[in-house]
Amino acid sequence: MYNLVNTVSLKFFGLCAALLLSSALLQASEKTPQATYNQGAAFAIGSPASSTEIAGWDIDVRPDGVGLPVGSGSVEQGALLYEQKCAMCHGDFGEGAGRYPKLAGGEGSLQDARPEKTVGSYWPYTSTLWDYIRRAMPYYAPQSLQVDEVYSLTAYVLNLNDILDDDAVVDQQSLMQIEMPNRDGFYLDTRPDIQNDRCMQDCLKDTEQKLVSSLAQPQVDVD
Ligand code: HEC
Repeated sequence: MYNLVNTVSLKFFGLCAALLLSSALLQASEKTPQATYNQGAAFAIGSPASSTEIAGWDIDVRPDGVGLPVGSGSVEQGALLYEQKCAMCHGDFGEGAGRYPKLAGGEGSLQDARPEKTVGSYWPYTSTLWDYIRRAMPYYAPQSLQVDEVYSLTAYVLNLNDILDDDAVVDQQSLMQIEMPNRDGFYLDTRPDIQNDRCMQDCLKDTEQKLVSSLAQPQVDVD
């Protein structure tokens, strides 16, 4: 009886060892080629983004004008487009229809208790206006406008704010020459998020550390 148990357990041990060995070999043979693949190839999903795909997302225009595509548009052309695609929400003269935002007016109101922030009174750069119109407007069909249409609409919104004349035409260069009235109302805030002097060495000063515990308080007898 004793012997039989021994034989069985020996056989079992042998089986386990064989299984362990084979799974170790399997893992080794799987791991070797994997190490040379990148993750995408190993899982066979995804593909590198093509330059055309990236271009579709990479549409931001910076305050210094970098990102503005080549093109041009006139106040006159912008007025026609605005009437068709924008006036129903922003009003014929940018005064805002219903609860939709105003695009013009509010000059000199920024110090008031209720400042009226519009493109003319508040926005610091023309390139931001161009970027915003292309990216987000018209509200019901964002990114549906052609490059030249965006130039025209930008010109017209600036005209509504008395920043451009009725016969003005703008392109990627002249748009950046226009100084917005509130340009200097913005500045770079260099304050850190938290006030804390950086310490790289001997930062923990023993003398400044105090162990505070309720056990350290003097005992009060409550009889
Ligand atoms: C269906 C209504 C609607 C139409 C049409 C529309 N807009 Fe707007 N527009 C909005 C709304 C709503 C906002 C505010 C969006 C927000 O704050 O997220 C806005 C915001 C803006 C702003 C920013 C205003 C600010 O000071 O914050 C500009 C500029 C603008 N629209 C331009 C246009 C132009 C140009 C067109 C036409 C091509 C247009 N919009 C068409 C609804 C509309």
